[in-house]
Amino acid sequence: MIVTIDGPAGSGKSTVARLLAERLQVHYLDTGAMYRAIALAVIRSGTDERDEAAVAAVAETAEVDFDGSDVLLNGRPVGEEIRDANVTAVASIVAANPGVRKRLVELQKAIGRRGDLVTEGRDQGTIVFPKAEYKFFITASPEARARRRHRELLARGTRLPLQTVERQLRQRDERDENRACAPMKAADDAILVDTTDMSIAEVVEEMAAIILSSETSGSQPADRKS
Ligand code: DC
Repeated sequence: MIVTIDGPAGSGKSTVARLLAERLQVHYLDTGAMYRAIALAVIRSGTDERDEAAVAAVAETAEVDFDGSDVLLNGRPVGEEIRDANVTAVASIVAANPGVRKRLVELQKAIGRRGDLVTEGRDQGTIVFPKAEYKFFITASPEARARRRHRELLARGTRLPLQTVERQLRQRDERDENRACAPMKAADDAILVDTTDMSIAEVVEEMAAIILSSETSGSQPADRKS
């Protein structure tokens, strides 16, 4: 069973995806961490992130993998370093690189062939797993997403004005939604979940209920099993 969860930054999809995977007892794949791992490899190698060919070459040689829980870069789990502001900004640029996307999409498809998965990103229901059994697109208002991101940053010791966090978030949305290659959008057959006024627990509960009820009744929200 493949469950895809796509949506913008700060929508709560990472936490929701992790908890839903635990609930369903399947692996959770954070594909954003894979783009962040490539960004880290680009930074470490001193490559200019805007040099398309050079960045694609880094993506080709960097060993990115998934061990069932963590994304690995050259055999080691990527740690908190991939959440740094600099890596976040570079990840958003390398994610628009067609060479990077081609390599990571292939890897994600291969991971999906290994077994059941809750996978989270921007293009999981549209490009990577168009035949996934369950597809969700999670949104929240930009203000709510900025407030959540602001709280997360504070918890990690980064103090930025809320307005700055909101501006950066809108810039990333703009880049993710308008890039030529695999722009972020909901699959036509995705179930939309607006989390603005919902708690994480409520979102997980709603999604788990949809999946578990159709698994027991043998039907699917959209008939994609055949
Ligand atoms: O979800 P995140 O913030 O960790 O993602 C990091 C960057 O990678 C972000 O700019 C969006 C991009 N991304 C993407 O383009 N496609 C994905 N499947 C996952 C993330």
